[in-house]
Amino acid sequence: MSEKLYERHGRKVIVVSGGANNIGKGIALSFLKDGWQVGIMDRDKKSLDDFPERENVNIFLYTGDVSDEYAVAEFYVLLKERFGRLDAIVNNAAIGQFKNFLDLSVGEWKRAIDVNLTGCFLMTRFGIPLMLENPGKGAIVNISSTRALMSEPGNEAYSSSKAGILGLTHALANSLGPNVRVNAICPGWILHENEEVTKQDHKQHLTGRAGTIDDITSLVAFLVDDEKSGFITGQYFVVDGGMTRKMLYI
Ligand SMILES: NC(=O)c1ccc[n+]([C@@H]2O[C@H](COP(=O)([O-])OP(=O)(O)OC[C@H]3O[C@@H](n4cnc5c(N)ncnc54)[C@H](O)[C@@H]3O)[C@@H](O)[C@H]2O)c1
Repeated sequence: MSEKLYERHGRKVIVVSGGANNIGKGIALSFLKDGWQVGIMDRDKKSLDDFPERENVNIFLYTGDVSDEYAVAEFYVLLKERFGRLDAIVNNAAIGQFKNFLDLSVGEWKRAIDVNLTGCFLMTRFGIPLMLENPGKGAIVNISSTRALMSEPGNEAYSSSKAGILGLTHALANSLGPNVRVNAICPGWILHENEEVTKQDHKQHLTGRAGTIDDITSLVAFLVDDEKSGFITGQYFVVDGGMTRKMLYI
């Protein structure tokens, strides 16, 4: 192995699904900045083409759908060829699915479960063999939602998919320990890039503000770091400015 390639193989590798935009993009860029090699799988080709660090030798961008097992399998074959190892997976890709329950079609229900829950399973199932080749410890962080824990009308498909992620998280923690730790994050309202909201929107949170992409990124960094969170697995962490602790009877 050439010196340069060896140096690259020594760097840790993280995979971020849905890393082309917003939260996933923030996570990918922060790990890249911290010296990791980053693989992104996202179906949004345009955003991947415009990705700020697309020419960086430490980044691998792949256009594909996380609910397509053949695409996921190919992603990991190419990731292995490119980086040769895998240390962490962040299952972040998801679609919203909010619709009056009586208008929700079976196809729409299935699509939300396929992308949000089965996608999480596939990215983990096909990534784990490569992760287990590592002598070190691996970590998985699944991005769920506070909607796994509470609801508004019309939330059925999305909430079910996100609650399923919490079950998958503790099941995987049992199956993959002690080599791989598996945790989930339940974000509340996290502002997108350049999104602005009213003072009232901020003020309703116990923290006096809505969430930022950095609020999620910093917790992902903590959960992936075995020195800081090595005794934590199978858990979920709510990052919502206290909204799930606030009673809202009218
Ligand atoms: N933003 C919030 O307030 C919030 C709140 C709770 C939970 N979350 C969760 O955080 C994660 C990121 O949210 P976000 O706000 O950045 O969403 P976003 O829609 O901005 O980004 C999601 C990314 O996933 C990609 N994606 C969607 N379907 C895909 C598929 N089938 N295959 C591959 N890629 C796919 C999209 O192209 C996009 O790049 C999601 O899991 C979401 O459910 C977000």
